[in-house]
Amino acid sequence: MAEFIALIPAAGSGSRMGEDIPKQYRPLVGKPMIYHALRTLCSVTRISTVCVVLAPDDTEWVRHDWDEFTGKIRIFNCGGATRAESVTNGLKELRAANYAQDRDWILVHDAARPGLSTTLVEQLLDQLADDEVGGLLAVPLADTLKHMNDTGRVMRTESRKRLWQAQTPQMFRTKLLLEALEKAPTGITDDASAVEALGFSPKLVVGNAYNFKVTYPQDLKLAELILRERATTQN
Ligand code: CTP
Ligand code: MG
Repeated sequence: MAEFIALIPAAGSGSRMGEDIPKQYRPLVGKPMIYHALRTLCSVTRISTVCVVLAPDDTEWVRHDWDEFTGKIRIFNCGGATRAESVTNGLKELRAANYAQDRDWILVHDAARPGLSTTLVEQLLDQLADDEVGGLLAVPLADTLKHMNDTGRVMRTESRKRLWQAQTPQMFRTKLLLEALEKAPTGITDDASAVEALGFSPKLVVGNAYNFKVTYPQDLKLAELILRERATTQN
């Protein structure tokens, strides 16, 4: 039986957030941002291990208490210059430590998506466990899309038909994901695009807006609201 292993890249600097500490440590409802995704992934019974990839010079992780996750999490200080590098390095560590075999599933999830629910993770696992390729959570685009010209004016309106916004977790087997990332074109911003570049077609599994990526300062309020509401409804 293939295992399910989560991998959280958390080695970014949060430059668009513009704060002193990397955004994954920014407090949200009294906990560092990464705590929320970590808790969700650790509470999914089918996930055997949750691996966190930190920057080699990370000084924040050790300032917090992670005891409640003991036994389920593994910490690797092998983050790289890009998200793709951090994921690649984490995967290599997982393999070297014999935690992940070729056919095991890896769920890569951004530390900056605190609104992930266990329900969404379960749906992803249910829909992909027997899939040949793997896939990702995503949401159909809601807004109208404009293509901009060189002077900041609308060149044309794009059809949003069949356009989806990619989220995480993105779930692929260890061997395929590592091969894809090692051959990936520079500049990719998610795992699925590396797999697509090999000619595969990942499956889209419907996510939801609560699982958005906290990127700019104005995103913090919304994330707080979602997490507060979840604390009262348990999901
Ligand atoms: N990430 C990483 N290693 C990097 C860059 C990003 O592990 N070299 C992680 C981030 O910590 C985050 C996820 O990838 O959990 C998504 O990246 P993003 O939202 O872009 O975070 P940052 O790169 O930290 O933010 P910014 O792009 O604004 O600097
Ligand atoms: Mg980034």
